[in-house]
Amino acid sequence: MALPDECKAFEPYFLLSDQKLRDIVKRFRIEFEEGLEHYGKDMAMVPSFVTGVPDGTEEGTFLALDLGGTNLRVCEVKLFGQNKFEIKQQKYRISDELKQGQARVLFDYIADSVDAFLTDIGSEMSNSHEPLHLGFTFSFPVEQTAIDAGKVLTWTKGFSAKGAIGNDVVRLLQDALDKKHIHVRVSALVNDTVGTLLSRSYQNGPALIGAIFGTGTNGAYIDKTRTIKKLGEARIADAEKGGSMRDFWVRRHVLPISIFDNKLDRESINPRKQMFEKMVSGMYLGEITRNILLHMIDSSLLFSGYSSPILNTHYGYDTAFVSKIEGAKDAAEARQAIIKDLQMDAAHVTDRDVEIVRWAIRIVSERACYLAACAVAAVVQHTGNDKVPEGKEDTGVDVGCDGSVAEFLPNFEPRVRKALKVLLGEEGEKRVRMGLAKDGSGVGAALCALQAKKAMDKKA
Ligand code: GLC
Repeated sequence: MALPDECKAFEPYFLLSDQKLRDIVKRFRIEFEEGLEHYGKDMAMVPSFVTGVPDGTEEGTFLALDLGGTNLRVCEVKLFGQNKFEIKQQKYRISDELKQGQARVLFDYIADSVDAFLTDIGSEMSNSHEPLHLGFTFSFPVEQTAIDAGKVLTWTKGFSAKGAIGNDVVRLLQDALDKKHIHVRVSALVNDTVGTLLSRSYQNGPALIGAIFGTGTNGAYIDKTRTIKKLGEARIADAEKGGSMRDFWVRRHVLPISIFDNKLDRESINPRKQMFEKMVSGMYLGEITRNILLHMIDSSLLFSGYSSPILNTHYGYDTAFVSKIEGAKDAAEARQAIIKDLQMDAAHVTDRDVEIVRWAIRIVSERACYLAACAVAAVVQHTGNDKVPEGKEDTGVDVGCDGSVAEFLPNFEPRVRKALKVLLGEEGEKRVRMGLAKDGSGVGAALCALQAKKAMDKKA
């Protein structure tokens, strides 16, 4: 059964040619350089102020707080050394009112959650006289100025709490904790990607990249401090005493932006920002697919022109459903999912409709995976890791991943690898090891708090 011609017209935006992939990587690399040199660039390249990666011997008990995914998580992380850890955690729901209300109220709620956690779970820790050290994983754009300070640049992922932008997020949290006399010190501000990089290194040996392919998309990698020119000579020299730091990726130009992406962007809370992320992340894959399906319905090419309440709802179509259809073993299983999850009347679902839905989902997911590969390849090339360092043993390149897309989207890794082969060559692709580093934002934040505490103890 042939797909309607209409489908063919959209494919160039989704089925990316080898040349297109190379162009995207090239652009990424240019923007890496720009972001390293100047503040305020789209490719933010935020220094983490983390100057070393763990080697698995680290020990101690720390608190970790994770804000930026679907829930707020409070964790107690015990690091035992020998690459081992234990984590106790509790999730707290963040309502839309909290996400979009006053920042002060949001941070009071977070402080209350830490308090509740310590009372219920981490009570043995809270008996100590020393303040508990907390690593705060805050997965939003921040201009970090020290390991324990950073200004909020914008909100993403459905948050828009007022009174946070431009303020130091560590201060906001510390003030809320102090006000309630909670004996906790926020010693490290961590992006989830940095946490993932640290956690992967603690568990599996040194990693080059920590990547989140989840509700949002972002990456951290290790670079020489000297390349972060925007820090200025004095701060580079100071930071170099500690070792190397890292940064990240976002951006718009060169990306294959279709009308469906533009619609999504225009209707998002951060229009014209983080376009790359909007083509790769769990928060958006369902919505892009919904836009495609609505277009096909409105053109009377799908479901005999009928829609459903789910399809008519902004963000009504969950990315988990994309994964389900992608993973369907045959058309019959996909059809069942369409009827049940899209609430479509069975009488309006023909074999061809099923084929169109599967097509839409395939092109949206394939593009997400290929774009993810572009970002990874760009870092590998930028750091000179596309070649075996001369005279050195080839230890390969390690990438720690976390997030729902990496974990649940069927064929994520094989597709990423297919594009990596195009971008790094067969040998280059084989040198890349990818592995889930689950819970980077808990364990990684604890590792970061430990590093910050050590630095504090040294100064004291
Ligand atoms: C969003 C956030 C970023 C985070 C990413 C993955 O892009 O702005 O800080 O790392 O999501 O969670």
